[in-house]
Amino acid sequence: MINSTSTLNNQYKFLVFGGGFSGSYFAHSIRKLGCFVLTSSRTKNKDPYNFVFDSENNIIPEDSIFDGVTHILSCIPPDKNGKDPVLKVLTNKINKSSLRWIGYLSTTGIYGNTNGNWVSELDNPNPSQERSLKRLNCEKEWITSDLPVQIFRLPGIYGPGRSTLEAIASNKVNVIHKDKQIFSRVHVADIANAIIYIIKNKLFFYQIINIADDEPCSQLKVIEYGYKLLGLKMPSPVLFEEAKKNLSPIAQSFWIENRKVSNQLLCKKLGYKLIYKNYRIGLDNCLANINKLHN
Ligand SMILES: NC(=O)c1ccc[n+]([C@@H]2O[C@H](COP(=O)([O-])OP(=O)(O)OC[C@H]3O[C@@H](n4cnc5c(N)ncnc54)[C@H](OP(=O)(O)O)[C@@H]3O)[C@@H](O)[C@H]2O)c1
Repeated sequence: MINSTSTLNNQYKFLVFGGGFSGSYFAHSIRKLGCFVLTSSRTKNKDPYNFVFDSENNIIPEDSIFDGVTHILSCIPPDKNGKDPVLKVLTNKINKSSLRWIGYLSTTGIYGNTNGNWVSELDNPNPSQERSLKRLNCEKEWITSDLPVQIFRLPGIYGPGRSTLEAIASNKVNVIHKDKQIFSRVHVADIANAIIYIIKNKLFFYQIINIADDEPCSQLKVIEYGYKLLGLKMPSPVLFEEAKKNLSPIAQSFWIENRKVSNQLLCKKLGYKLIYKNYRIGLDNCLANINKLHN
């Protein structure tokens, strides 16, 4: 399957649009391989490799940012009108650059509700939520852009600093039971590593790839494990029909959809080996990170 590999090194310049949780993790990982990486945020921060980009307020990076760029990863969600913020204002600059590859982080929300069944890249998108319709529109904008783009569809992202453990510790966790409700998830390190694997092995012939772990399951199982790791007693679960009265509309909307996201293309066909195959190993890593910070 994999016939040619390349080394990532200082010949390559990456721009990461949206250096938030996943974007900054990716930047950190690719920098370790020797690549030059700049990340964007909407306001200037202390990172010397940061530049400012804010599509809403028309703050556009200067041309020099694009000099010699070979790879772009966009981690910015759709704007309020469902347009892609990067394509909306930066297409001309990107077109003038010496670009080889673009990655776009999308969501598995575009698959809609499958009543707990598996979805793969072969399934037609069937979004029901407004945010997923906007996302699908952005995917279409990227696909029709004529740029060398690959789309990565992601379920719930967690990792060090943003996991069930932090939610429990800050009292922001809702212990809810909903019969047969399944969620998929992915550790942020696997997003970064899977994308690096794809770039290194030039696996560019699949335009859309899911990145998800091996074990979709109820949110309750993850929360139970989180309490166990922290050595705390979990409160009794509240039935969803009761709990939803206290959930925001956005929080409720996540419970309306029920699906299992397949990673067969990435992990079987393309041969990527997950670092965190399930939430248990992933949360163990998040706990180790908390312990490291406190020691
Ligand atoms: N979180 C999840 O569970 C999840 C699941 C599936 C897919 N996704 C999608 O995957 C991508 C990465 O997720 P994430 O959770 O790592 O993202 P994140 O931490 O929320 O970071 C989003 C980044 O986009 C930037 N941004 C937002 N609006 C912008 C605009 N109008 N112009 C310029 N920059 C803008 C933010 O800038 P600042 O740094 O200034 O805030 C931030 O750097 C996002 O598109 C997200 O919607 C997320």
